[in-house]
Amino acid sequence: MTHTVVLIPGDGIGPEVSASVTSILEAARAPVQFVAHHAGQGALDHGHTDLLPQTTLDAILEHGVALKGPCTTPIGTGFRSVNVALRQTLKLFAAVRPVRSMPGVETRYTDVDLVIVRENTEGLYSGIENHITEDVVVSMKVATRGACERVSRWAFQYAQRRGRKKVTVFHKANIMKLTDGMFVDAARRIHKEFPDITHQEMIIDAALMRSVQDPTQFDVLLCENLYGDLVSDLFAGMVGGLGVTPGANIGESNAVFEAVHGSAPDIAGKNLANPLALLMSATMMLNYLAETRNDATCQTASDKIKRAYDTALRDKQTTRDLGGQLSTTQFTQAIIDRL
Ligand code: NAI
Repeated sequence: MTHTVVLIPGDGIGPEVSASVTSILEAARAPVQFVAHHAGQGALDHGHTDLLPQTTLDAILEHGVALKGPCTTPIGTGFRSVNVALRQTLKLFAAVRPVRSMPGVETRYTDVDLVIVRENTEGLYSGIENHITEDVVVSMKVATRGACERVSRWAFQYAQRRGRKKVTVFHKANIMKLTDGMFVDAARRIHKEFPDITHQEMIIDAALMRSVQDPTQFDVLLCENLYGDLVSDLFAGMVGGLGVTPGANIGESNAVFEAVHGSAPDIAGKNLANPLALLMSATMMLNYLAETRNDATCQTASDKIKRAYDTALRDKQTTRDLGGQLSTTQFTQAIIDRL
């Protein structure tokens, strides 16, 4: 069985890290074939008039899975962010970001191993802002029971499938009694379907203090949109930052996997970019294919790639952002050599 996956190479360092990842997947004999489509500045460069062409959306809807390089949203041209547009158009309701201490990557923290599940479609990111008077503006925080329950169920199901033991909800329901109150209530209700998973609630200010004191106490974190965005970067910083932070945006029947970093125009075209975050996103994609399409060969390829990059990191074979000396292509080869 071969799975067709849409590849959006992206802008800036996107094409370099995408080429690295596709060559590693090929060397690992991952049962995947890529069809390239464009988004962001790349779409404009390929003659499209939209940052997110309909042909790209149609391809993701047809094949169900995409691996996406970082896209540049041109500033000051009236285009809305391609990433926000993708999430909203494809209803990718759960943003999933695993955070793990990496071998050979030294930070202040060790043994961090958790997964952040962030509601991706509403909260303060609904973009509903109004002028009340010239000097008074409001931004509306939206919570709907359906969206709160949907992401809660996804988080508990994920914990169960991955053998994780605890889901912790970060919230501020003591102040935002209706919106965060609904989020907390939805998680409580859904937890009843998963009695084998521990459910915990923490008010977010205290939760952040406890996070920096000891991040190893957490397993799966469940957050509404804004809190999820903020805590994702906090925890990413604890394990080495942008170079080692993969991500996924998951919907009912589509999923887009992408690194958290942007198109890094300062190092684009210089063979300096670290492809690891996109590679880790690709291993998440293989795990997703293994689960949703019941294909064990995807899991085997994912495990093999993970062992290879862990070994390269342990051997201090890394790009400069992680303290090493290797170029993008040399790091790619170092991983292929260890497959
Ligand atoms: P950025 O993540 O592109 O760069 C921030 C810093 O991290 C830069 O110094 C860069 O060189 C470094 N960096 C990032 N990724 C790296 C990698 N793989 N290897 C080595 N160094 C790396 O963030 P910035 O500068 O704020 O955004 C640049 C562009 O990327 C903007 O147009 C923005 O809209 C876009 N962007 C796209 C995202 C996406 O498509 N998911 C996410 C974030 C930003």
